Order: sequence, then structure tokens, then C-alpha cells
Amino acid sequence: MNLIIRDAVEADLPAIIQIYNATVPTRMVTAELEPTTVEARLQWFREHSPEQYPFWVAESDGRVIGWLDFKRFLPRCAYRGTAEISVYVDENFRGRSVGQRLLQHAITRAPSLGITALVGLIFGHNKPSLNLFERLGFERWAFLPGVAQLDGVHRDLVMLGQHCPARCRPGPAGRPVSVESASNVDPPQARGYNDSLSLMHTLMQYRHEPIHSELLKIRDKYSMLHLDVLILIYHFAKICSGNILEIGAFLGGATIAAAFGVRDSGDNKKLIAIEPGGSVKHKRLGTRNILRDLERNLARQRVSKIVSLIKGRSFDAATIRAVHGTLGADKIGLLILDADAAKRRDIECYRDRFADDCWMVIDDYYGADSNEKITPSRADVDALVEAGWLESLGFYGWSTWVGRWRGPR
Ligand SMILES: C[S@@+](CC[C@H](N)C(=O)[O-])C[C@H]1O[C@@H](n2cnc3c(N)ncnc32)[C@H](O)[C@@H]1O
Repeated sequence: MNLIIRDAVEADLPAIIQIYNATVPTRMVTAELEPTTVEARLQWFREHSPEQYPFWVAESDGRVIGWLDFKRFLPRCAYRGTAEISVYVDENFRGRSVGQRLLQHAITRAPSLGITALVGLIFGHNKPSLNLFERLGFERWAFLPGVAQLDGVHRDLVMLGQHCPARCRPGPAGRPVSVESASNVDPPQARGYNDSLSLMHTLMQYRHEPIHSELLKIRDKYSMLHLDVLILIYHFAKICSGNILEIGAFLGGATIAAAFGVRDSGDNKKLIAIEPGGSVKHKRLGTRNILRDLERNLARQRVSKIVSLIKGRSFDAATIRAVHGTLGADKIGLLILDADAAKRRDIECYRDRFADDCWMVIDDYYGADSNEKITPSRADVDALVEAGWLESLGFYGWSTWVGRWRGPR
């Protein structure tokens, strides 16, 4: 079947409601007891947005034959990353993998939407839907016995869930990492292995999003980093809990990528950028006054208000005081480290403020031996990985190490 999945538009609403209403009398799918109307559902439809809580339709030969929507799971902030999904398929097209295609699309797209867990609420007697979700990796996370009354019959509700990206189930401890079966390895290794793969996957997903071309322009104008690294910085800034600290902002390439992530997260995260200024000779990005050009670039990209710029060197007492003052009681959920070669020094300066699992992007890990920053930078990172303070999740672009903070145990 020729099937496309696309964002729904209001003109699709009659077909969406028709598919929905057809399920009401079955008492299998929805807890709604009466059919609804387009007018009654207009507000609900408009509460969706393609960037965070999308509404997709599955279309075949110009006809809407199924739909899937995301909605906020619970209103409290801590549940922001969790979305509830609902899937409906036209009764004439069931058994042709339409629901599976929609659900698979949701699982794949979730990380780039900033969604870290998906849940579905399904009646206990709706075996086809339970099977579909479980086939695609959902697990039974909750069972609510007899909570729905359908024509006088008490029905159970099952909550199915899946983390995005999927987490490995703990396997027997002490097994070596096996490429064939990540679920056979001990949990921390398995988690890192899985997370590395899902970061690559997330990167691929962003290639199909408008932010990809937005960041391509930012890279060309303002950054020494590779586009993939800017995309990951954007992604981490969007999903991290806690604030963001960047050391070595230069002309603002990574700063702007992180600021876009904060903007698209819809949260009030602080983004602190440290830069002492100076001049640089460079064919593409040469400048006589780093700070002047940095401030101009942030203003041009309309992110000045998101960024707290601290003018100074990372390790100066005044800079450290200013960072602490800006953070207040908050933690750092993303560190972007692209200053000089003293990576360990900068980590030591701010490690008491790193959140557990703080994302870390550290440049100058690979490069030509003639580059004097590389050898000491890599030695610092390797020693911290060896000590268990840092967890490696991969290497991106020209020379950037990506991972997470584990800290002294
Ligand atoms: C390679 S550039 C950063 C490039 C930037 N991340 C990008 O996206 O293009 C390094 C910057 O770090 C700054 N820097 C060097 N030592 C520093 C320190 N101790 N604290 C803060 N910034 C520092 C330099 O002035 C320079 O602007």
C-alpha cells in the first residue's frame, strides 16, 4: 500500500472524526460513549503542534486512513518529556500495518521532539492494540483494574510505556559488550552502548528537520565546529534538565545552537557562555574583536536574552563567582567545553555544579598531531574516562568527544 505519514491539517478533521467515531460503538478503543463532532474537537486539534505534540495522519491515495496524536501526559513540569499517544485506523484498512507504521514513526521521531518516554492507555480487552504496542517494544507499566464502565461492564485499563530512546533491559551482570545482543551485557555498559547508537540515530532524524538547515547557516557563519556537533548541542540543550554552561564561546556558533535548543524546549533554562575575547586570524572566521562580534551575532540571531555572557577566563575567581551567581541553586545539565587544552582544569572548576548524567561536549579530542591542543586535551579526557568520572558516548565531527558526567563515586 502506498502510504504517507504527514502532519494533519484542519481540513483532515472530518476524516479524523469519522475514523474516531467508528470506534465508539465497539466499546474496545475509546472511553467516549457517544460520537463527537468536528466542532467539538476543533480546540483539541489546535492544541497540537508539529514541534512538540504533533498530530499525524496516514494517507493512502489521497485518503486519510489513520491518525496518531501526541498529548502531554500530565500537566506538572517534571512530566514534560513524557507524551501520551493515541492511534486510530479506519476499520476498512485494519490489518495492513497502518497502525504499526504510525507507531513506529512516533518511536523514531520522539527523541527529536524532546520526548523521553511514550505511554499509551489501552483497555485490557483490546487485545489487537495491546499486541501492536508490545510488538513495537512497549511494556506494561501499570494496570488499573475495572476503572472504566462500558455499558455497565467494568473494564481494565493498561498503561503501556517505552523510553525514547529505548533502554536496555538489564542482563546478567559481568557479560562482555556484545554487538549481537546488547541485552546480554551488564546494565551500565548496555546503557552506554544503546545510548551511543541512539545518539547517532537522533542525529540522522534531525537531518529531516528544518533545524538542520538553520544550523547549517549558523555553522557557516559563526562556528569552527562540525554541523553534527552543533546539532547534538542543540539536541542536548533542548532535552537536558538543568542549565547550560559553555566555555569558549568565540563567535557564538555553539552558543546559538544551544540557544535555539533552549528556545525550542519551551523551558526557562539558563545558558551561560564564558569568553575572554581577543582577536583570531582565520580564513573564514577571522576577527579583530571576538566579544564585539559575539554580541553582534547573538543579537542578529535574536538569542541575546537567552544567553548570559560572562566576559573572562573560565578559571578566574571572578568568572567562577559570576557563574555561581547566575546559576543560583540550579545545576548544569549540559557542558560545552571548547576553550584551551586544559579540559580537566575547567571540569574541576565547575564539577560541583554538574547534574547527575550532565551531558558533555568536549572539543579538541582528535586532530592533527601538529595541533598543540589535541594531545593534552585527549589525555585529560581519557584520564577522566579511565577514572570513571566521564562516560564516553561517541566522537563526532572533526574532533569532538561526546559523553556524560558520572563524577567521582
Ligand atoms: C575554538 S574557539 C571556540 C569555538 C566555538 N565553540 C565555535 O562554535 O566556533 C575557542 C574559544 O575559547 C576561548 N578561550 C580560550 N581560553 C579560554 C578560557 N580559559 N576560558 C574561556 N574561554 C577561553 C578563546 O578566546 C576562543 O574564543
